[in-house]
Amino acid sequence: MPLVPLRILLDDAQKRGYGIAAFNINNMEQIQAIMEAAHALQAPVILQASRGARTYTNDLFLVRMVQAALELYPNIPVVLHQDHGNSPETCVSAIRLGFTSVMMDGSLEADGKTPSSFDYNVSITKYIVDIAHMVGVSVEGELGTLGSLEHMSAGEKEDGHGASGKLTLEQLLTDPDQAVEFVQKTGVDALAVAIGTSHGAYKFTTPPTSDVLVIDRILAIHEKLPNCHLVMHGSSSVPQDLLKTINAHGGKLRQAYGVPVEAIQKGIKAGVRKINVDTDIRLAMTAAIRSWFADHPDSFDPRDYFKEARSAARKLCEERMRQFGQAGKAPGIEFVSLPEMAKRYKVA
Ligand code: G3H
Ligand code: 13P
Ligand code: ZN
Repeated sequence: MPLVPLRILLDDAQKRGYGIAAFNINNMEQIQAIMEAAHALQAPVILQASRGARTYTNDLFLVRMVQAALELYPNIPVVLHQDHGNSPETCVSAIRLGFTSVMMDGSLEADGKTPSSFDYNVSITKYIVDIAHMVGVSVEGELGTLGSLEHMSAGEKEDGHGASGKLTLEQLLTDPDQAVEFVQKTGVDALAVAIGTSHGAYKFTTPPTSDVLVIDRILAIHEKLPNCHLVMHGSSSVPQDLLKTINAHGGKLRQAYGVPVEAIQKGIKAGVRKINVDTDIRLAMTAAIRSWFADHPDSFDPRDYFKEARSAARKLCEERMRQFGQAGKAPGIEFVSLPEMAKRYKVA
C-alpha cells in the first residue's frame, strides 16, 4: 500500500493502547532491516529521516528505496517522516518528496542549536500545520528542549543535534499548561516532550532514576491533554551487551546508559505513541561489524559485513516492536490516502 499519514497510525495506537517505534533510516540495509522486522511481525512502522540522512543518501535514493520497500511489503502500513525539520523549507521539501509526516522542531531556532521562544515555536509550527494539513500530511511539534538533567545541557556534539550551552530546568522539562496552549494554538497531530532524554549514546552516566528521567511528567501532560499523541525522542536504550561487544573489539565508547525499555512502556501507558530510536540501531550495526572483522580479519567483501549489520539491526527492531506493542497490529489498520486525510482535517 502507499505511505500512510502518521496520524492514522497514532490514532490506531491510541485506540488499541500501544506504541510505535520511529526508526531512523540512512541507508539501504537499515530500511531492509526495519521492513523485514515489520513484515515478520506484521507491525505498522514509522521510517524517519533526519536532514543529515537526506543529505547522506540523497533525497532521490531515499525515496526510491522506501518505494521499493512498499512494493515488497504491500500489507505493512508505513509512514515516512521528516525527523527534526529545522525550518519551513525542510518540511515543505519533505512534503514535496512524498513524506506523509513532518516534524517542525520549533523548540530550537533554524540553526538547530538556539532554544527558541514559545511564540516563535507556536507561529512556525502553526505555519507548517496549515500547509501540511491542506495536503493530508501529519505534523509533529516539540515543546521543551531535549537534554540531560544530569548536566543540564543537550550533550556533546557527537551525540547528535541539540541545543548548545547550559539549559534551565524549565527548558528541560515540558510544562503541562504550556503544552495545552501549544497544542490548541498549533493543531499538531503529535507532541514531542522534554523529560530528560537526549540524543545519542551518552544519555546517563548511571542507570537513570526518576530524578533525571522524568516519566511522571508524561503522566502530568497526558492528564491535561488526553487526546494528544505524545512522542519520546532520545529513546534508545543503549544495550550494555552492545557497548561491551564494541569495546571488546577495538571500540572506545564511554560507559553510558540509555532509556530503559520499562520506562518507555510506562510512557506508552501514559499516552506516548511514537518512540524515536536511532542510536540503538547504530550500536547494533557497529557491534556486528566490529565482531565480524575480529573473527574474519581476511574479509573484504562489504556484503559479508553489511549482512551481519543488517541482521543485527533487524533483531534490535523486532525486539523493540514487540516491547512497544506494535507487533501484530498491521492487520486492522485502515489505509487512508493523503487526499482523504486532507478532507478529514478540513471537516474537523
Ligand atoms: O535526532 C537525532 C537522530 O538520531 C538523527 O541524527 O542528524 O545524526 O542523522 P543525525
Ligand atoms: P536516540 O539517539 O536515543 O536513538 O534518539 C533518536 C531520536 O530522537 C531521533 O529524533
Ligand atoms: Zn530526536
